[in-house]
Amino acid sequence: MVIHIVHGINLGQLGTRQPDIYGTLRLEDQIPILQTWLDAHFGGTELRSFQSDDEGALCAYLAAHNGPDHAFVINPGAFTHTSVALRDAVAALTCPIIEVHLSHTYARESFRRASLLAPYTRGTISGLGWMGYRLAIEGLVSKAGEVG
Ligand code: DQA
Repeated sequence: MVIHIVHGINLGQLGTRQPDIYGTLRLEDQIPILQTWLDAHFGGTELRSFQSDDEGALCAYLAAHNGPDHAFVINPGAFTHTSVALRDAVAALTCPIIEVHLSHTYARESFRRASLLAPYTRGTISGLGWMGYRLAIEGLVSKAGEVG
């Protein structure tokens, strides 16, 4: 199985961007840490990371990697609240996808409470920082959310 960790706009700046909200850890440092954790607990699953500030590139990446034995963890950044294009791309997926936000979006400005993507995801994790990604990956490999 391949799990794609997809980040949208402004998330390439993690580490220096509003560290009081998003922390001081960089995206490129976190992926190997997540892979090490995954190898220790769920061997045989590969993580791939993709970040773009381009809405079209994100939609194209999802479409190109949709299929059996693939799954997504996505933090779309501000596109969460604005992108009909990304919503449509997520709706078209046949493989599972979980939405993650580092910050507690429900405890911030009111516009952050709405996600255009959420209805087409298996679930959303918000406000748990990088732990949210670990939980999402665990949900995907253990098929959490499936009844029975
Ligand atoms: C974010 C929350 C979004 O509202 C914001 O636009 C981001 C980051 C998060 O991870 O907390 O860029 O997705």
